[in-house]
Amino acid sequence: MSGKGKKSKAVVLREESPPYHVNGNGHHHKLRFIDLFCGIGGFRIAFERASCECVFSSDWNEKAQETYAANFGEKPHGDIHSVAVADIPQHDILCAGFPCQPFSIAGVSKKLSLGKAHGFDDKEQGNLFFTLADIIDFHQPKVFVLENVKNLKSHDQGRTFQIIYDTLTNALGYTVYHKIIDAQSVVPQHRERIFLVGFKERRGFEFPQFPAEGPKLNSIFEKNVPEKYTLTDHLWKYLQDYAAKHRAAGNGFGFGLKDGNQIARTLSARYYKDGSEILISQGTAKNPRRLTPRECARLMGYPANFKIPVSDTQAYKQFGNSVVMPVVERIAKAVVKTLNTPADERPELVLVGNDKENGEVATRTPVPVSYFKKRRKTKA
Ligand SMILES: C[S@@+](CC[C@H](N)C(=O)[O-])C[C@H]1O[C@@H](n2cnc3c(N)ncnc32)[C@H](O)[C@@H]1O
Repeated sequence: MSGKGKKSKAVVLREESPPYHVNGNGHHHKLRFIDLFCGIGGFRIAFERASCECVFSSDWNEKAQETYAANFGEKPHGDIHSVAVADIPQHDILCAGFPCQPFSIAGVSKKLSLGKAHGFDDKEQGNLFFTLADIIDFHQPKVFVLENVKNLKSHDQGRTFQIIYDTLTNALGYTVYHKIIDAQSVVPQHRERIFLVGFKERRGFEFPQFPAEGPKLNSIFEKNVPEKYTLTDHLWKYLQDYAAKHRAAGNGFGFGLKDGNQIARTLSARYYKDGSEILISQGTAKNPRRLTPRECARLMGYPANFKIPVSDTQAYKQFGNSVVMPVVERIAKAVVKTLNTPADERPELVLVGNDKENGEVATRTPVPVSYFKKRRKTKA
């Protein structure tokens, strides 16, 4: 699996910019980051806003590449496995919202019902974490920022997370902080995601603070919404009947009808299908409507000038898969601030135990057991 040491001809490398370092004698070189599983670039905007420079991006989805290229002027590299690890440029910060499908509750139940493997047993996607671990092992970035669904922690009775955690800490030697963050304090959407921030040097890190109360849906509404976003009588009746059937059977499933004074449920990549998770009330005289793609962009915290060059279906998929940009922006700024602080300045903050306020903190065992390297030896 590892492409370590190999040089892939397929990859055209960007010119190396000067070696990183922040603030020597008044000199600033931007911290360099790589944007893995980049989707439409939520991490990229966030880290650029934290004054970092993107030196490599990868996503194999052609439609996501189109949106990324329209906004950042460069097409991401494709399948991460087609790029040799050594061909990825040197970087300070590794960013990755690695695919959540094998870990999400919906993914697991769907795969189970189809008799398919899930999590690390998923040969196609579950092992992407080890691809990431390989890149970290080779390039030794100063810090990584990983994002995944909240369910990553409980998947397979916590075993999936334990392996990920052990690999990052015991095998790779990073000091890892993790926290589940709900984006509703910055956008009108309940969206819980786990973030893992790992430092190569042993150092303290505090996840950023978020406002106690966030915006409501009316802050993202477009003024003139075309009629095509209003549900047809047929679809609206179907959704109501479906919800009634499930209610009768004692299940909670139903559509999420909201007005402008409320917040939305989590936008998913399947929103394009029937829009049922977020329907906007238009009063009693009219059927509810879906959000427009632009409203979805706002719901994910993307800036007003973000270009959406793809169809509605693709746009819904892309925003549903994305990160809430302002959440990552706050994390990016906290990470950069930490990197610009001498490592030993606040030793009291390093590995203080399970501090709920600042995110749960990992303890690193002093024994350098390289589970990860053992795994690679046995694979070869
Ligand atoms: C959860 S999304 C990440 C979205 C991104 N964080 C954003 O803000 O838009 C995961 C992405 O991984 C990409 N992906 C999955 N497997 C891949 C692979 N083997 N190589 C490159 N990209 C891959 C998918 O196309 C998808 O866009």
